[in-house]
Amino acid sequence: MSQWEFSTGTAEATQRLAENLAPLLRAGDLIILSGELGAGKTTFTQGLGRSLGVREGIISPTFVLVRIHPNLADGHNPGGPDLVHVDAYRLASPGEIDDIDLENTMDSAVTVVEWGEDRVEHLADSRLEIELVRTVGGQAPAASHPSDGGGRQDPADDFDFAGTFADADEDDDEPRTLRLRAVGPRWEGVDLSRLDQPAAPRNS
Ligand SMILES: Nc1ncnc2c1ncn2[C@@H]1O[C@H](COP(=O)(O)OP(=O)(O)O)[C@@H](O)[C@H]1O
Ligand SMILES: [Mg+2]
Repeated sequence: MSQWEFSTGTAEATQRLAENLAPLLRAGDLIILSGELGAGKTTFTQGLGRSLGVREGIISPTFVLVRIHPNLADGHNPGGPDLVHVDAYRLASPGEIDDIDLENTMDSAVTVVEWGEDRVEHLADSRLEIELVRTVGGQAPAASHPSDGGGRQDPADDFDFAGTFADADEDDDEPRTLRLRAVGPRWEGVDLSRLDQPAAPRNS
């Protein structure tokens, strides 16, 4: 298991980090995103999608459990993996996850699961865990983990958050800390320490 930590000052910077991760990903990879509502899980996924060259329109899938964004044959990464974007917020147990049959799509896709911790680990023997933490006054709040209670809001609150953040513009950029943990054989020897560096130009 390896760990890395990054900070970003803007939503754009969080997306750039994701864009730099994307070229290292391949079909079958599982990414588990955690962090409170509004932390930037969907924002991060948008950056991934952009760089993977999949169909656009990545939005918070809260009321749709799974969205498949197919790789675009006429995009900049033809033949690359699809992106399967899951929101597991409402799924109480690994059993409910099994009902949505992610196994079917995993082989041809990068599977990204928001709120996936303790729910989807059984789907693959390796995974990348990414925790996004709102940084307040330069420091991560102590009780940022959902299991601390208070981290996971009532689902009804989604509406407020979604409304608030849908209107967000550049002025709302705030620092975030991103903690990456790579688990399993897939990630052995993979160095993710340079995700915040400008990406090398694509060979095309
Ligand atoms: N550094 C940052 N990284 C990511 N998002 C940020 C950052 N600063 C501000 N934001 C804003 O926070 C919001 C995150 O929303 P979203 O990605 O939907 O969160 P989640 O999916 O975790 O609930 C967006 O409006 C985004 O513009
Ligand atoms: Mg989200």
